[in-house]
Amino acid sequence: MKILVVGGAGYIGSHCVRQLLAAGHQPIIIDNFVYGHRDSIPEGLTVYEGDMGDIAFTQPILEKEQVEIVMHFAAFAYVGESTSDPLKYYDNNVAKTVHLLQAMRNANVNRFIFSSSCTIFGESSKMPLHEDLPLQAFSPYGQTKQDVEVLLGYCAKAYGLSYACFRYFNASGADPEGTIGEDHDPETHLIPLAIQAARGQRDKLVIFGMDYPTPDGTCLRDYVHVNDLSRAHIAAFDKLKTPGTELHYNLGTGKPASVLEVINTVEAVSGLSVPHEFGPRRPGDVPAAYAYPEKAISELNWQIEFPDIKSIVETAWKWHESHPNGFEK
Ligand code: UD1
Repeated sequence: MKILVVGGAGYIGSHCVRQLLAAGHQPIIIDNFVYGHRDSIPEGLTVYEGDMGDIAFTQPILEKEQVEIVMHFAAFAYVGESTSDPLKYYDNNVAKTVHLLQAMRNANVNRFIFSSSCTIFGESSKMPLHEDLPLQAFSPYGQTKQDVEVLLGYCAKAYGLSYACFRYFNASGADPEGTIGEDHDPETHLIPLAIQAARGQRDKLVIFGMDYPTPDGTCLRDYVHVNDLSRAHIAAFDKLKTPGTELHYNLGTGKPASVLEVINTVEAVSGLSVPHEFGPRRPGDVPAAYAYPEKAISELNWQIEFPDIKSIVETAWKWHESHPNGFEK
């Protein structure tokens, strides 16, 4: 199928592009290269550089390329920045998504896959997180994801749009082939920061909080491999054939790891020590967030190939070892 991957040069988008190719689909990329990397794009793919919020740019692409499904990976995702500059987040993550959906409607493209986040569940005390828990985001970033999810529901009912929202837990790891991986600027995620500290590229890792109500006092998260996430998206294609289909899946392994467990794993995989110290809690962090992934497993026949933190860190380590400075461009 012809799939338009919006944000296809970003971390999760670029992994999804590889998985689409492996499954025999035809991905076409739109990226504005604010955060995306040109070097992450496989040779020979059609790439359009521009803004997903510009209907005059996207609608002709949708029509000319006869796109069947649009996958949207082009959100901004820095929670702290969303608090200091909420307009930037509402503009990119909500307003531009509205325009993308409008372009799809104009071009008669009726299938949409949205990268959502477990952060829409807020500080839920009910772990693991099931799909039917109430949405209660508490950061501007999380609210933008929640708002798009709600809008998609209205579009399904009004226009027959078929959509799937995938609520990612902690996307991590890298394609085992070693040519693409995580390269954010600035980097804020735990696994790359711990690896960079082990490699001496950072002085140390600061652990945000040691007194959470968890077994070792550090936060529990559900690290899930980007290739596993990508394959879940592809597994939903068939279900989207029926107009007005609304799908929601929480994508995690269901097996959380604490910050200390991640550090120990990076040390075991690399054979190096991770210099670290304890610091204050980071505002907005919840003590624990992990998925109940059975819905995706049973309905989509989703196969988790990287079921534990060690298998995920091994792929991340391989990427960082071979690309110490990330992508060239
Ligand atoms: C973050 C976002 C989340 C978003 C996701 C994907 C926040 C609060 N949450 O998830 O909404 O969907 O990324 O982009 O930004 N940690 C340290 N030291 C560090 C870095 C992280 O101790 O230097 C800890 C954090 O406190 C957390 C865990 O490591 O407990 C994972 O952090 P991170 O990788 O930033 O992901 P999340 O915060 O879970």
